Amino acid sequence: MSSILRRLPPSAATGLRTGARHSLAEVYRPADLVVLGLGVMIGAGIFSVAGRQAATAAGPGVILSFMIAGIACLLACLCYAELSSTIPASGSAYTFTYVIFGEVWAWVIGWALILELQLAAAVVARAWGEIAVGALANAGVRLSAPGLAADLLVLAILVPLTGVVALSARVGLRALWVMVAAKLLAIGAVIVVGLPHVDARNFGDFHVPPETLTTAPATVLEIVVGESHAFGWFGIFSAASAIAFAYIGFDVVATAAEETVNAPRAVPKGMIRSLVLATVVYVAVALVMVGMVSYTKISVDAPLASAFRAAGEGWMAHVIDAGALLGLTTVILVLIVGQTRVLFSMARDGLIPRGLAAVSRRYHTPSRVTLVIGGVAIVLAEFVPVLTLQELVVLGTLFAFGFVAAGVIVMRRRMPHLERGFRVPLSPVVPALSLVATFWLMVNLRLLTWVWFALWMAFGLAVYLAYGRRHSVLARPAAPVPVRSGGRHRR
Ligand code: ALA
Repeated sequence: MSSILRRLPPSAATGLRTGARHSLAEVYRPADLVVLGLGVMIGAGIFSVAGRQAATAAGPGVILSFMIAGIACLLACLCYAELSSTIPASGSAYTFTYVIFGEVWAWVIGWALILELQLAAAVVARAWGEIAVGALANAGVRLSAPGLAADLLVLAILVPLTGVVALSARVGLRALWVMVAAKLLAIGAVIVVGLPHVDARNFGDFHVPPETLTTAPATVLEIVVGESHAFGWFGIFSAASAIAFAYIGFDVVATAAEETVNAPRAVPKGMIRSLVLATVVYVAVALVMVGMVSYTKISVDAPLASAFRAAGEGWMAHVIDAGALLGLTTVILVLIVGQTRVLFSMARDGLIPRGLAAVSRRYHTPSRVTLVIGGVAIVLAEFVPVLTLQELVVLGTLFAFGFVAAGVIVMRRRMPHLERGFRVPLSPVVPALSLVATFWLMVNLRLLTWVWFALWMAFGLAVYLAYGRRHSVLARPAAPVPVRSGGRHRR
């Protein structure tokens, strides 16, 4: 077998390789995982992407876009649930792929997850800075240099969040509970205040007639069809792909597996529950937003606030600002946590420098790799126009979804004896449907996004061939890895 296809034994993936320097504290219980999932999902997707898609692509049909993306993500989530219950490791899809398909594919997925998590942290931090400037303006604070203020605010959010993740998983978790509760209160206010203003006539034109656009076809599907459309079913589906951004994060719950008590049962539950709750929240908020006013009155820059202003509830702008700032804060926090766990796993396997897998003896966190991730996020958010790269985050995520769905089918055949804490119902039908749904969302993304993705992957493969292939732990002659007596830390 070619060395690039060597596979990680499931026993190694699930802990035997975990030596004293590499052990993480078990801090999460089932309810924490739901909070983790809601923390990372509810953010820019619902506070800004949804309204933008309603105004420009789907009209009131954005409600359907949320349902379509939600169903596609639920199918993927069931597949993640089975694999993470069988291989409860920090690397999530990266480690599943290492066990099922072999090293080079694992690297490819790890590289795609870096795109998902690292880039998303930068995108959301940038969005946080812009929203904070808007919130200050809404509160009457006039800034003479809003661009510079946004740059400083990006630093003001990324530095402390990186510090929290580096210093204590426990403190991060407590802060997360408080902030998630507060953002859910803000979302609750959006629904309760908005609901009485919902006017069925705004849904009257539920399927806004399709418009053929004069712009050149941009998504892969449009290029195949030869025309570019907004609204109608085309618009609803293309909005669903953009809206998949809102669902990004249920998969991050799987990266907490090594730190979860009774992970094989708790992780699937946490993931599925948080995804179902987030879907309900999204559909309710979308319904209120496009039900309060005609979609033509929704502003692209401040969608929810503009809908409330048009309904005569301008004061809600402050509640929305507070909810969005808290919401995006928790998204960044959990994205950094997820990214540290994936890189930590890749470093532990030797595919990136092993020093990055060091766990601080004092803080029991992978603090070194956390500082690297925080630093890269700051550079990206400050110097790269990351807000234009949101689709790239979605493509990286969907790519991993595809491997996870295929992984369930292959693993059932190859390793039927492994204990599974959760089994996808009706396999292989559900994983096959997940593959189809994921592919459909992918072809509704722009060709340009695919080109950037291909370049990123080609760069990644070069890095693997130059470094990972030779430094992989599996490339070395077998040597016993010290296992810490007394098992993992409990705190
Ligand atoms: N799901 C996250 C958000 O919407 C990435 O901000």
